[in-house]
Amino acid sequence: MTMKKIILISSICLIVMTSSLFYLFSPKNALRPDESKSHKKLIHTIRHLAIMMDGNRRWAEQHGLSRIEGHSHGVDPLKMAVRFCIDQHIPYLSVYAFSLENFNRSPDELAHIFHIVKEGLRIEEMQEVIDKGVCIRFIGDRSRIPADLMPTITTLENKTLNGTALQLNILFCYGGQQEITASVKAIAEQVSRGELTPADITPQTIEAHLWMKGVPPPDLVIRTSGEQRLSNFLSWECAYSELLFIEKYWPAITYEDLEQAVEIFVQRKRRFGK
Ligand code: FPP
Repeated sequence: MTMKKIILISSICLIVMTSSLFYLFSPKNALRPDESKSHKKLIHTIRHLAIMMDGNRRWAEQHGLSRIEGHSHGVDPLKMAVRFCIDQHIPYLSVYAFSLENFNRSPDELAHIFHIVKEGLRIEEMQEVIDKGVCIRFIGDRSRIPADLMPTITTLENKTLNGTALQLNILFCYGGQQEITASVKAIAEQVSRGELTPADITPQTIEAHLWMKGVPPPDLVIRTSGEQRLSNFLSWECAYSELLFIEKYWPAITYEDLEQAVEIFVQRKRRFGK
């Protein structure tokens, strides 16, 4: 090869390399966070994930079990969801475990659900969750919680008070309309005592008296089982939440399903009315 040819080939290589570098690092083509394929970074945009764990009884029927047995199979996916949020640095997880309307179910089913909650929340059962630094709170009408569950609940809440890895809100004996009503009643009492005038009342006043006070609103609400409604779930807080309905029943939900849900969420454009 002649010297002329060597110089020509080297120059072509240099031009190709320089232009590729220029293309990669030019401001137009630089990797912007919102275009990154890795959702590891984007997932931080979820501060609060809320899950309606629906379909336990249909899952049980599908698997030849009695309908109420389905609830026992809902506990492991809940622990998986806790692991998922910790792994993905999502600081708040809220799960709909039992609504005030669920009190209309048969006495047998109610007894079974309360038994699962009592057993599932024993310190020994929850040790893995406690060790991970989860702070557990029960949200709902506490006056309706069966008395024999209260020691388990308060022990767990006290034991996990200082957990910083994740706040797990278990919505239990909960109803969104009842939560708003309780807030309005507390405000009305302040007005009647002369501590507040009606003109002082803003959305922030209502928020400050909700059972969920201090928790940011859910960014994403997932409901499993294919049903597409909110069923009195976080009625105030979900005003601008993204909703995602998954066909699978709750006991069949996997870590990968939650990853996929987050991937769908990060593609959404949130406008908050703008
Ligand atoms: C809804 O499915 C599920 C419930 C009413 C209960 C959910 C409870 C758990 C997953 C257990 C929680 C446990 C702890 C420890 C907090 P469904 O009964 O409406 O089922 P269906 O839609 O198939 O009828």
